[in-house]
Amino acid sequence: MGISFIFFITLMKVRQYLLRILLAYRGWMYENVREVSLKTKLWGLTVKFVSGYQPSLYSCQRSLPRMPVPPLDETLSKLLDSLKPLCSEEEFKEYAKQANDFESSIGPRLQRLLYLKSWWAPNYVSDWWEKYVYLMSRCPLLINSNYYALDHYKWTPTNKQVSRAANVVHSILNIKRQIDREELPPLLLRNTIPICMAQYERLFSTVRVPGEEIDELLHFDSVESRHIVVWRQGLFYQQSIYDEKNQILSVALLEKLFQEIIDDADKHKESVSESERSVASLTGLPRTDWARFRKEYFTSGINKDNMDLIDKAVLLVILFDKCPENISSKGKALLHSDGRTLWSDKSVNICFFPDGQCGLNVEHSMADAPAMGHVWEYAMTMEVIEKRYLDNGQVMPPPKFFKQSNYSYPRRIIWDITDALEKEINKAVVFNQKNNDDLDLEIVNHNKFGKGIMKKARVSPDAFIQIALQLAYYRHSGRFCQTYEASATRLYQNGRTETVRSCTEDAATFVRAMVNGKLPKEELLKLLRAAGNHHQKLYRDAMNGLGIDRHLFALYIVSKGLGYESQFLESIIRRQWTLSTSQQPQQQIQANIPDINLEPFRTMCSPGGGFGPVSDEGYGVSYMLPTEYNIFFHVSSKKSCSTTDSRKFADILFKSMDDMRLLFDNSTLES
Ligand SMILES: *[C@@H]1O[C@H](CO)[C@@H](O)[C@H](O)[C@H]1NC(C)=O
Ligand SMILES: *[C@@H]1O[C@H](CO)[C@@H](O)[C@H](O)[C@H]1NC(C)=O
Ligand SMILES: *[C@@H]1O[C@H](CO)[C@@H](O)[C@H](O)[C@H]1NC(C)=O
Repeated sequence: MGISFIFFITLMKVRQYLLRILLAYRGWMYENVREVSLKTKLWGLTVKFVSGYQPSLYSCQRSLPRMPVPPLDETLSKLLDSLKPLCSEEEFKEYAKQANDFESSIGPRLQRLLYLKSWWAPNYVSDWWEKYVYLMSRCPLLINSNYYALDHYKWTPTNKQVSRAANVVHSILNIKRQIDREELPPLLLRNTIPICMAQYERLFSTVRVPGEEIDELLHFDSVESRHIVVWRQGLFYQQSIYDEKNQILSVALLEKLFQEIIDDADKHKESVSESERSVASLTGLPRTDWARFRKEYFTSGINKDNMDLIDKAVLLVILFDKCPENISSKGKALLHSDGRTLWSDKSVNICFFPDGQCGLNVEHSMADAPAMGHVWEYAMTMEVIEKRYLDNGQVMPPPKFFKQSNYSYPRRIIWDITDALEKEINKAVVFNQKNNDDLDLEIVNHNKFGKGIMKKARVSPDAFIQIALQLAYYRHSGRFCQTYEASATRLYQNGRTETVRSCTEDAATFVRAMVNGKLPKEELLKLLRAAGNHHQKLYRDAMNGLGIDRHLFALYIVSKGLGYESQFLESIIRRQWTLSTSQQPQQQIQANIPDINLEPFRTMCSPGGGFGPVSDEGYGVSYMLPTEYNIFFHVSSKKSCSTTDSRKFADILFKSMDDMRLLFDNSTLES
């Protein structure tokens, strides 16, 4: 036994090591998908062979390369390039001088410390990113940090709220179980290259507990976390999700229990005070305030027990009693609700409207959007490809052989609300509602054309949209602005996100020429292609650990840690991201999905989700390219800012895209 065991361990280590060497190769990324070189093909086959048949969720983790620290001079010169279209000549000279001083003074010392960290830590930036960007931020989570996701666009598989809730929650509990058991297959880029799956661990049974200076993320395992919490009319219910034999409650049973909760809440709501029904409002306060109240009012007696229940819940289910009027108000309901409903500390609130529509509100520190997006896509797709509802809208009964064993009934959570606490709750509601009223959100469908035409014209769809955003912003405000586009670094161990600064000098040149209108179409198209290629290179560099913003951020943290005051780093870090943008991930699940470009599936795709603006004077723009023919945009801004207007920006963006589309003449589109 000893020998075969040692043999097995050795084999595993060798495999891990081989895979790590193989995954260091990045040539594939810079090749066109349609013209892959022989080298890359052979490499792909070897990677598949070495990663093994059906790898488990985390089996490739240890083989993922560590994220490298980019050379200091490269980061600084790329930074300066990105500042050119944004600064006056004088400002630029000042930045260039500061960068130079930094490079010849403390820069190299900070850089050496980062090298050291990158050798021992799994990732040189991710732990700091989580701590300083998320957990130390004192802003309210709603609008500023949490994001939302919508369900299908113009299709609802049932109009019964409890049936939809039962089915969707059941799908999600199922995939959670696959994650707990590490049975979910790891995602593979191009069906070959494994990416980091570490973020899946904390998607559920997780809470962000407010602290006076820094919040804390708590995650509970499936021994402690065995229930969900359901909200209705401001009343909370605990509902266990497993029966005595550890089976997930059947969909039909969940449907029945959700109905019982609705009936009970509708009956009891009159006897519960308005403030007791608004406890969730406290989670929308600035973090330090919420931390103080939590310590003062929720650390003893039944309030503490209740708080434990919510902290340890797998997820929260919100059963709204009002339908949104249109898709933008649905987005607002999911992003911030009415200021007294969402428990924003929980990793996920799954929300259901009375007519069967649904969506998510997701806390951001524990994972980035693609991970929760993957789980959500699974739940949404199952409703399309499997028959999940009867003709009358109710869920399918369980199969004959299925026997549910003993389970517990929902239990209402009752709070102890003192006069002092009541005052704080009422103030929190007012505070939240003011923030909510200030948020201007528009969700729009661009259906004149989609990525199909862009691909035919050989311009990367993401670059096309990013350049259109630059054109729109310039037309809207007469200047360029610092732009954030999110990209992922999950090719590396514990990689999270990186910033692509998509307002490039090439994009600016194209935009000026478009606005100027003097160049012929062919010349404009050349400029567009040049800007597109530049953008694509920046995007690939970011995925390859050659972005600049995480590096600058890490240098800044080290400088703070050593007690240096670097005016240069300080001024770079403080610059506003006036446009904050992100393309939504899609088609992450591995299943036999019907072609979404075909009718009737086109209306079933999801518009994805969105987020609030990062800067008070700017826009948050997220977009999703589900089919060849349409693009969804989510545009957010603050009403209190006199220079922004989400609707107007969306209109200008659509016009800009149309104008850019006209540069492709019909002959280039034929092929
Ligand atoms: C959507 O509904 C809200 C009210 O909930 C309304 O103020 C807004 O104008 C509507 N938007 C559109 C595009 O109809
Ligand atoms: C279910 O609970 C009842 C009452 O507690 C008990 O008598 C019965 O044996 C339990 N059934 C199973 C299958 O555990
Ligand atoms: C290109 O095609 C579109 C639609 O097919 C047509 O409306 C347009 O007139 C064509 N343009 C030229 C220059 O041929």
